[in-house]
Amino acid sequence: MLSKRVNGIAESATIKMGLLAKQLQDEGKEVMNFSLGEPDFKTPEHICEAAKKALDLGYTHYTSSAGITELREEIAKKIQAENKVDVNAEEVIVTPGGKQAIYEVMMSVLDEGDEVLLLDPCWVSFEAAVKLAGGKPSWVKKLEEEVKYEALESAASENTKMIVINSPNNPAGYVLSDRELNEIAEFATEHNLLVLSDEIYEKIIYERRHVSIASLDDMQERTIIVNGFSKTYAMTGWRIGYAVAPPVIMNGMLKIQQHSVSCAPSISQYSALTALRGSQECVDKMVKEFKRRKDVIVKRLNGIGLRCVNPEGAFYAFVNTSNHGNNDIEFTERLLKEAYIVVTPGSAFGSAGKDYVRFSFAASMENIVEGMERIEKML
Ligand SMILES: Cc1ncc(COP(=O)(O)O)c(C=O)c1O
Repeated sequence: MLSKRVNGIAESATIKMGLLAKQLQDEGKEVMNFSLGEPDFKTPEHICEAAKKALDLGYTHYTSSAGITELREEIAKKIQAENKVDVNAEEVIVTPGGKQAIYEVMMSVLDEGDEVLLLDPCWVSFEAAVKLAGGKPSWVKKLEEEVKYEALESAASENTKMIVINSPNNPAGYVLSDRELNEIAEFATEHNLLVLSDEIYEKIIYERRHVSIASLDDMQERTIIVNGFSKTYAMTGWRIGYAVAPPVIMNGMLKIQQHSVSCAPSISQYSALTALRGSQECVDKMVKEFKRRKDVIVKRLNGIGLRCVNPEGAFYAFVNTSNHGNNDIEFTERLLKEAYIVVTPGSAFGSAGKDYVRFSFAASMENIVEGMERIEKML
């Protein structure tokens, strides 16, 4: 009944774990959920107010498919000022979430059998998007080692069309160094590859600074930046993302958007405009709190013997469980059964994650402390 394409992809492991946590909670269990990929903060008040105003003004209809002009212009300004990439509003497409932007990129540029380099481990939906578009993922290990030209070279073939990077990274929390970005840029240029750069966690960063690969020499013409409002402004449910792409690709994405979702939600677009134009203090506050939680969870996990590299960005701790003789699936199940703790098994993100589990610290400090106590007892 189902197509080969759909049969070829797995259910989203992160969404699955979230549902499992909810099911246990509904059964009355005191579950600690560390599987969520979304900020637990409320969307800032002034952004919510903008939505109420948009409703009152009757902005409740389709917008132009690529997004309202004011928002595209504001995004272009932000990209120029913060990411040092010289774009204009026509190169920006506003999408219903960053996820949709990624699908539109893959559908626009991949033909059957084209290969895409993915860094292993990586966010679960990249692989699915590549496969649904008829492409084939090819993996390059990137966990605690640096991305090197030679490793890219040995994973590539004459069918390779694109490389996907995501820095700061979900699930491993790394931020790509300038050296790695330069090496990836050199490789992409020499092999005439496109680069999809997912920068959705750019503001949630604790070490290093965020550099967009599109700002490196001659990279803009081959780079598609994907970003959005979900993580930076705690706006996951508003479904607003965007991409900045070379005009030909942007037009391909636009066609898909016109024939699939029409446009991003109108009310949310006005709220996103307010998010960009308003004070950024709300973002600083959330990032500060994420950092406070990160410091606690990393210290506690390492203290219990669950080795965890200090995340440089995003809100995930990627924890090595091999000291405890369990693979990731066994450890995830054990946490759930013995401590009512929900995490995501690392192998969901690629084979490099098979001895790891991902803890999201988009959870209250109280839950983090209690969660760590439960694990300590369990072990
Ligand atoms: C790396 C990465 N990219 C993109 C997204 C998509 O976010 P959204 O579709 O809410 O903009 C996520 C969400 O979890 C993510 O982790």
